[in-house]
Amino acid sequence: MAKMILLLLILFFLHGVDSSPPHACDASNPTTKLFQFCRTDLSVNRRARDIVSRLTVDEKISQLVNSAPGIPRLGVPAYQWWSEALHGVADVGPTPGIRFNGTVKAATSFPQVILTAASFDSYLWFRIAQVIGKEARGVYNAGQAKGMTFWAPNINIFRDPRWGRGQETPGEDPTVTGAYAVAYVRGLQGDSFDGKKTLSGGHLQASACCKHFTAYDLDRWKGITRYVFNAQVSLADMAETYQPPFKKCIEEGRASGIMCAYNRVNGIPSCADPNLLTRTARGLWHFNGYITSDCDAVSIIYDDQGYAKTPEDAVADVLKAGMDVNCGSYLQNHTKSALQQKKVSEADINRALINLFSVRIRLGLFNGDPTKLTYGNISPNDVCSPSHQALALEAARNGIVLLKNPLKLLPLSKRSVSLAVIGPNAHVAKTLLGNYAGPPCKNVTPLDAIRGYVKNAVYHKGCDSVACSNAAVEQAVAIARSAERVVLIMGLDQTQEKEDMDRVDLSLPGKQRELITSVAKAAKKPVVLVLICGGPVDVSFAKDNEKIGSIVWAGYPGEAGGVALAEILFGDHNPGGRLPVTWYPQNFVDVKMTDMRMRSSSSGYPGRTYRFYKGPKVFEFGYGLSYTTYSYSFKSLTQNTLYLNQSKPQTNSDSLRYALVSEMGRESCNTAKTKVSVVVENQGEMAGKHPVLMFARHEKGGEDGTRAEKQLVGFQSVVLSKGEKGEVEFEVGVCEHLSRANEIGVMVVEEGKYFLTVGDSELPLTVNV
Ligand SMILES: *[C@@H]1O[C@H](CO)[C@@H](O)[C@H](O)[C@H]1NC(C)=O
Ligand SMILES: *[C@@H]1O[C@H](CO)[C@@H](O)[C@H](O)[C@H]1NC(C)=O
Ligand SMILES: *[C@@H]1O[C@H](CO)[C@@H](O)[C@H](O)[C@H]1NC(C)=O
Repeated sequence: MAKMILLLLILFFLHGVDSSPPHACDASNPTTKLFQFCRTDLSVNRRARDIVSRLTVDEKISQLVNSAPGIPRLGVPAYQWWSEALHGVADVGPTPGIRFNGTVKAATSFPQVILTAASFDSYLWFRIAQVIGKEARGVYNAGQAKGMTFWAPNINIFRDPRWGRGQETPGEDPTVTGAYAVAYVRGLQGDSFDGKKTLSGGHLQASACCKHFTAYDLDRWKGITRYVFNAQVSLADMAETYQPPFKKCIEEGRASGIMCAYNRVNGIPSCADPNLLTRTARGLWHFNGYITSDCDAVSIIYDDQGYAKTPEDAVADVLKAGMDVNCGSYLQNHTKSALQQKKVSEADINRALINLFSVRIRLGLFNGDPTKLTYGNISPNDVCSPSHQALALEAARNGIVLLKNPLKLLPLSKRSVSLAVIGPNAHVAKTLLGNYAGPPCKNVTPLDAIRGYVKNAVYHKGCDSVACSNAAVEQAVAIARSAERVVLIMGLDQTQEKEDMDRVDLSLPGKQRELITSVAKAAKKPVVLVLICGGPVDVSFAKDNEKIGSIVWAGYPGEAGGVALAEILFGDHNPGGRLPVTWYPQNFVDVKMTDMRMRSSSSGYPGRTYRFYKGPKVFEFGYGLSYTTYSYSFKSLTQNTLYLNQSKPQTNSDSLRYALVSEMGRESCNTAKTKVSVVVENQGEMAGKHPVLMFARHEKGGEDGTRAEKQLVGFQSVVLSKGEKGEVEFEVGVCEHLSRANEIGVMVVEEGKYFLTVGDSELPLTVNV
């Protein structure tokens, strides 16, 4: 009889939750009182241990994959670990945790990350992520989410310009990427911008996941895939380039998730590397959260890499390394036999499950009806709200980069008599979004937005597609001839650069160049060239062609990108974005994409990124013009000599004395700091927002390829009206900003003279042992 009542209660309970989003521990279910895992007065860890202790072995195994089934006898609903929110809540993937098939049909689609990064504005990045997290809650509260764990941000270094997923990242610099990771994670998860005030109401707004850990930045290049690629990474590059964004994401962002990558690093698959997952992330960096594999990254350890000798070995490798959940079904299929063969123990599984249930508990999904809790009042009306859409516009405006404008042909007059818009990227809304995008709140193409200024702008696609194997050169030329002004909207799209597809070329595809050059030659006035693309393209031909008066890079600018672009073209917004990656010439493709080395070598390898690359550049990292001009001058330095306070300094092969950052300790690192003020003046005719980038270089920087040419110290924006002066202050610390990795991957600070630079201004700073 008692059993019968219990059954009825459970049935009632399961029914009762239909109207509210999936959650455990519903208050209307009296049996839940018995469960410690439902008691909000207990610690997360204790609650997670409690639920794990109640599961059978089969139930435990069922929870080790991204589509975790419900456990009806405990009132626990199914959970989907896999959701995406790279630049807005999305419904991509074969088993999306998010569905746009209910009240909520779309979400705010921010610019693709590479363009957002170009704003060099951490607070903007934070606000975007806050909105994404809020919209995610809105979708969840509407009953359209089966999970609140989002597999973003992508914080791998954009090491090679051909990378198909470079568009998803904040660019090539570890400092920028680390700052982006922290801002995104804090915003999405519900922390404050400065990280001091954490989590209102105690639980995560949504869970962020820093991926792909680690040294993952090759998808499919000349037949080499990410599934089999073995990244050979030096200890120095690992310490100085590939790992710092993940360290920041975990230590300062306090991410509740990380994803291990497909590739091997120095022979070891990331998901099977205990040194990476357990000793580094959890041990050294105090990671508190769950670790997911990339999708099917466990099966490939046996199937493609042959690293494991049997499927059970693959299961044992990842569980013992510290991975917690498998995107895919491999752990569902092979964990039982791995247990039977004693390759894993139940304790290994429990460890993973405690991490997994802890995150679900921290999300508030085991606290009863979540619509009655923190974030419970976020409604479908908050998704795509006017203020969220305005933020998407602000992000696009502040990211777009002006690359060329010597004759000041931009901005265009709003009274332009006649305007021709030509190009395959002028009128395709989807292209503006880039990859990992959900349905946007609205669609406005660049052409639509330009026609908001010049109603009868004439349009021609110019090419059959972005691949441009056929170009309608004659028609385009005829249209160009009859117009006063011409805007060409060219570039790439997801047919040229995407996940699982790297480029083999840096030039514009097909006949795009021929079209551009012919139109420019025929046009009455020099033309405007707009590039919509994520990765850089070699447009030296356009840079050097006087008939191409202006060049604008618009990334993939998101749902409001068409409007932002038109505002910039017609002078309603002054562009201030700056390139987050080096634009290399086409002959950079002679470098093997598989070569992970950052530093140049004497045998002709040119090195990578602004820090180490020695060859010619089309445009450099941090480059970006404006409709006004800014001048910089250093104002003050609180200390012009910093001391390392080493009693027994070591000496390197250049006879320079140095200190180890780890041995200096927090106190010395905090003392060896100085504040630097820079005065910025807007000397032109138009108000603007301007990101100020400060770099540091050692006096021997770049000499022999071991030290970086320069290294970004920080970035800060100023908003100045015409003629106005403003001041920005940077704090420079020897440990954080002037250190580098030695050949065994240990961070050191060398004595000597350093130069701080902002634009052409330089300020010396001495470091004494
Ligand atoms: C939305 O899609 C999911 C998955 O296919 C389905 O379970 C759900 O019933 C759908 N909702 C509506 C309102 O159609
Ligand atoms: C797991 O087993 C199911 C059912 O046999 C199969 O469809 C699936 O492909 C297997 N998964 C993997 C990763 O091998
Ligand atoms: C380091 O040495 C300098 C110069 O002797 C001194 O001013 C400073 O206080 C010392 N800092 C620490 C942390 O000991």
